[in-house]
Amino acid sequence: MKQKESIVGRSFLTLLDFTTEEIEYLIYLSEELKEKKKKGENTHYFLGQNIALIFEKTSTRTRCAFEVAAHDLGIGVTYLDPKSSQIGQKESIADTARVLGKMFEGIEYRGFEQTKVEELAKYAGVPVWNGLTNEYHPTQMLADILTIKEQFGKAKGIRLTYLGDARYNMGNSLMIACSKMGMHFTACGPEKYFPDRELVKRCKQFAEETGGSVTLEEDVEKAVKDRDVIYTDVWVSMGEPEDVWKERIEDLLPYQVNKNVMEKAGENAVFMHCLPAFHDGETGIGKDIYDKYGLKEMEVTDEVFEAYADVVFCEAENRMHTIKAVMAATLRK
Ligand code: CP
Ligand code: NVA
Repeated sequence: MKQKESIVGRSFLTLLDFTTEEIEYLIYLSEELKEKKKKGENTHYFLGQNIALIFEKTSTRTRCAFEVAAHDLGIGVTYLDPKSSQIGQKESIADTARVLGKMFEGIEYRGFEQTKVEELAKYAGVPVWNGLTNEYHPTQMLADILTIKEQFGKAKGIRLTYLGDARYNMGNSLMIACSKMGMHFTACGPEKYFPDRELVKRCKQFAEETGGSVTLEEDVEKAVKDRDVIYTDVWVSMGEPEDVWKERIEDLLPYQVNKNVMEKAGENAVFMHCLPAFHDGETGIGKDIYDKYGLKEMEVTDEVFEAYADVVFCEAENRMHTIKAVMAATLRK
């Protein structure tokens, strides 16, 4: 495994901090590590090192991906949930960072404001990896680019439409990732759910350099016609108040990914989702929404979800290979 000098020792907080070439390297490294995993090869490159995982929001994929990837690299893991540590309540982020930085070679953080993970990185003195904040979800982006490469043989030139709430971590991050990779990104939803104007401006500049594009569109028919990837995410994200559901359903139901959307996208299009997804009534929140609003499926219909389940669960698997690459690229050997 060959490390790239410019990335070693760095934190991974948002793809805004990484060049197209560096992102491409992380994808190649993910491919290499995925192949080694499939062949059962030993990848204990960091034996004896330790990392801390801080989760102030819940997780299935990201936590498991970090834990499995760390074990595969020979790294020990300590998991801290929001209630079992002093973080935030009795100890500041800066002090926590300085403590953990003395004991661990790397720190993963999932939480609320991006400023928190930035502060952690500023004081830790070791690489900090953003496992999701309100604003960004950069490790998810690497898994998505890898999945797109596996589906289409390339990322550059691929046309991706994201439907729903594009102001939050997934909309922002996909816009950055696509524009950095020379892809054509469209955010589709009511105007009030469009990403931050300043961020759109920056991404349009990246796209100009890479041959990609960034478009914002309220009209579903226009946004989904002849696309390669149709992407969506939950309408209400972790940490948002429950009382926004009513408004979100009213605003975003017209942007649900259903059979009609996939037909318009074309027969080669695939559906992707970062997960977890509300595609049936088999979840606690799903049941509550059904009782209150009579809605069984939300951002994606069960029919579409199941038709593209292979892609979506490969995408979930790729979280592990790409997170492994992020750790392997940034930790000092
Ligand atoms: N996609 C994703 O981040 O999933 P988790 O919330 O389960 O980690
Ligand atoms: N937007 C979602 C993404 C989950 C992976 C959330 O923040 O809850």
